[in-house]
Amino acid sequence: MEYCKKLGVAVEAWSPLGGKDGTLFDDPVLKKIAKQHAKTVAQVIIRWELQRGIVTIPKSTHQARIIANADVYKFELPAEDMKAINDLDRDPMRHGETPKILSSSNRKQRIISYYR
Ligand SMILES: NC(=O)c1ccc[n+]([C@@H]2O[C@H](COP(=O)([O-])OP(=O)(O)OC[C@H]3O[C@@H](n4cnc5c(N)ncnc54)[C@H](OP(=O)(O)O)[C@@H]3O)[C@@H](O)[C@H]2O)c1
Repeated sequence: MEYCKKLGVAVEAWSPLGGKDGTLFDDPVLKKIAKQHAKTVAQVIIRWELQRGIVTIPKSTHQARIIANADVYKFELPAEDMKAINDLDRDPMRHGETPKILSSSNRKQRIISYYR
């Protein structure tokens, strides 16, 4: 994020709500924060992304959810909530590979082969 910011590159969430497996919606940390702010877990996730400067384009097939997911500009997550969510960064929570893999030589080789 910091590196991209320095270069003026916008970072966009890949699957901003964790994709269609829906496991994030049952996370106890996210549920607790959502309850404290009287918001949905989805709104908390989207708000966390916005406060981190991440472009987020969540998808839903339900009109009510699309409307609720966009209603994230009238509350702010305090630093302790932001940290609690940042601390969820662990592999079973991930929808895709950790960016840390990008530093491994095998991964670099795979990316190079892909774009050849
Ligand atoms: N270019 C790429 O390589 C790439 C890769 C991945 C994703 N994307 C794009 O990024 C966008 C979003 O990514 P994504 O589809 O992977 O997943 P996502 O936005 O992270 O999550 C979508 C899932 O969350 C559910 N959802 C949405 N709002 C909810 C709410 N308020 N409460 C409970 N569940 C909710 C949706 O179910 P319902 O529909 O039932 O509400 C859907 O199953 C998509 O437009 C996708 O095409 C692009």
